[in-house]
Amino acid sequence: MVDQERILTPNQKVHDNLSPEERFEELKKIHPGIQTVKLFDSEVCVKLEEKVEKVKAKALKGLYKRFTVDKAPLRNKYFFGEGYTYGDQLEQKGERKERLFPEGAIDPIPSWVKKYIIKPLEKEGLVPENWINSAVINDYLPGGCIVSHVDPIHIFDRPIVSISLFSDCALSFGCKFSFRPIRTSKPLLSVPLRRGCVCLMSGYAANEVTHCIRPEDVTERRVAIIVRRVFPDAPRLTSQQYDALCERLDRKASQVDGRGGFKPPIQQPARGLKRPLEYSKPPFGAIGQQQLSDVSSSSDDDVSEHRKDCNKKPKVS
Ligand code: SIN
Ligand code: MN
Repeated sequence: MVDQERILTPNQKVHDNLSPEERFEELKKIHPGIQTVKLFDSEVCVKLEEKVEKVKAKALKGLYKRFTVDKAPLRNKYFFGEGYTYGDQLEQKGERKERLFPEGAIDPIPSWVKKYIIKPLEKEGLVPENWINSAVINDYLPGGCIVSHVDPIHIFDRPIVSISLFSDCALSFGCKFSFRPIRTSKPLLSVPLRRGCVCLMSGYAANEVTHCIRPEDVTERRVAIIVRRVFPDAPRLTSQQYDALCERLDRKASQVDGRGGFKPPIQQPARGLKRPLEYSKPPFGAIGQQQLSDVSSSSDDDVSEHRKDCNKKPKVS
């Protein structure tokens, strides 16, 4: 309960109690900050989806740097260009605590993302040229979710741009999550995210109200590729802080192993970094149900404050 209170923004607190008139006023502020554009036809989607499959296969072979890949049972993330600390990786929770990883700690943006996603966005005038410097692939299984959050405002410029692949979904605003079992309140607004569509979020929609992907809206595998601009002066971990983080996560992983479960695979050293690369999370299917719920309760989503599991089937009334 305390935790729930702590994670709610002032806006979320009032959403539950809004009168129809107040809801209408909120919607009037949110709407101008959301734009959806059908940019990729089915043929292009198939090509992009094949590329995503290759990323997944490469990750399974352990060929990416440690913090490029973040695995959780119902959603995996692949960071390119830039990555940042969130969820379990944060020692201190709270607003503006997220930090970029040191330069070189994350794999570069794949050339196919630049060619088939960023260039078309630039050509359409949706983002300035050479503006995007980070890309994240979120790969959701049915029932996967991202809990309510605001993309860290000290790290990411606006607009936040996402491309939906594999299946249709919805982006919900102003939802409250509760957990075990996972439930979500009625969204203030739900924006359809069709396969092949681009969604741009800025202004009030991006900064003053939370957004999420609800588990009940992910009925089939879905992938979002989120392309953003990281501010040049966004705070970064020092190499000492990075080392300390790796050690803390290694210790935690070995405790999981101590219960007879997951043992992180040893992988190649990161280019430019001395540490070996291990996944910080157990791979899906590699652990028993009890451990899975233990891991999931400490797994994360895109924000530090909202660290709850999305691994149970939703039970939404
Ligand atoms: C999405 O999956 O479309 C959005 C995810 C996020 O906001 O982190
Ligand atoms: Mn987001």
